[in-house]
Amino acid sequence: MQMLNFMAPIDGDPPLPENENANEEPEEEDIDDSHYESSGYEVSTETVTSAVYDFIYENGRKYHVYFGKDKYLLPMDEIEKDRLDLSHEIFFRLLDEKLHLAPIGDEPHRILDVGTGTGIWAIDMADEYPSAEIVGNDLSPVQPKWMPPNCRFEIVDAEAEWTYRPDHFDYVHMRNLSQAVTDWPFLIAEAYRCIQPGGFIECCELENVPRSDDGTLKEDDGVKTAMSLLGDALKLLGRPPFMSAAMLKKELEDAGFLDVVVTAVKYPFAPWPQDPKLKMVGAMVLMTEETAALTRILGMSQEDADRICTNAVNAVKDRNVHTYMFFNVVYGRKPESPVDP
Ligand SMILES: C[S@@+](CC[C@H](N)C(=O)[O-])C[C@H]1O[C@@H](n2cnc3c(N)ncnc32)[C@H](O)[C@@H]1O
Repeated sequence: MQMLNFMAPIDGDPPLPENENANEEPEEEDIDDSHYESSGYEVSTETVTSAVYDFIYENGRKYHVYFGKDKYLLPMDEIEKDRLDLSHEIFFRLLDEKLHLAPIGDEPHRILDVGTGTGIWAIDMADEYPSAEIVGNDLSPVQPKWMPPNCRFEIVDAEAEWTYRPDHFDYVHMRNLSQAVTDWPFLIAEAYRCIQPGGFIECCELENVPRSDDGTLKEDDGVKTAMSLLGDALKLLGRPPFMSAAMLKKELEDAGFLDVVVTAVKYPFAPWPQDPKLKMVGAMVLMTEETAALTRILGMSQEDADRICTNAVNAVKDRNVHTYMFFNVVYGRKPESPVDP
């Protein structure tokens, strides 16, 4: 979604920069990639030292392009990194301060976080499980340089064949990847191959279908419109417009995982719930408002796209509209043997 994402300003935000930096060379950052490892498959370590830092600037935002212009549609700049870290806190609270739901035991050994983003989940897991080696992989080299000794990051395309050893990981975690993934069956099959017998996979996705239980969300609501257009754009890219709990469960079962467990929690768009935990989450979600950017894939004018984003942000600020989406956590177990269970 290079031009597809907009972080529409909300009250109190500084205005976004104009698009005057488009096509300008990004400022050279303090690049030290010695802590990165490559999977060695499509990306050699040598390559990582150079072109992996290729970014472009559009709409005043910074996009990573090393793996292709439309490969990942959200920007990867400081604003986005802050948004991802805040989202991590939201998901953590929604799961009652748990980093995962799969029963991985007290002493897991090898954990993979696919599409790790800022690496915040991987780092927290490394602190929580000193017995484990945590690998976080991502298209973009945006992870911090300092991390616990049992955590490391790799720059790879997770939709290319994985080079991890078969039966290697105790646990593979994927969170908030739904706008990025084209081929879920491939991704889940690669995870299945690289998880050891008895190990777990966990997929955590926002469903991206806005709802209300009391009819306050109307058909012409700004959030509904923005999400529906985002779905159209994803379809044009050959990606599923949304991932429901049932779709994730089916993907896991089709790949061969057993005992698939689904947990769906409400992700409110604003602090309208009575429940104090959800009210706090709603307030935090309001701070992360990210709306679909629609120019590149749907060919909208910047003006129209901005209008849709502003309408969506204004819509969630209306406390009389009780919008939420489901945050679905789906986990399953790789059979111990071909005859399990
Ligand atoms: C919305 S962020 C979620 C980050 C993290 N999982 C979290 O929940 O905080 C999606 C991340 O997936 C990464 N990503 C997208 N497509 C990918 C791919 N094919 N291979 C590896 N990483 C990918 C993006 O670069 C981005 O960092």
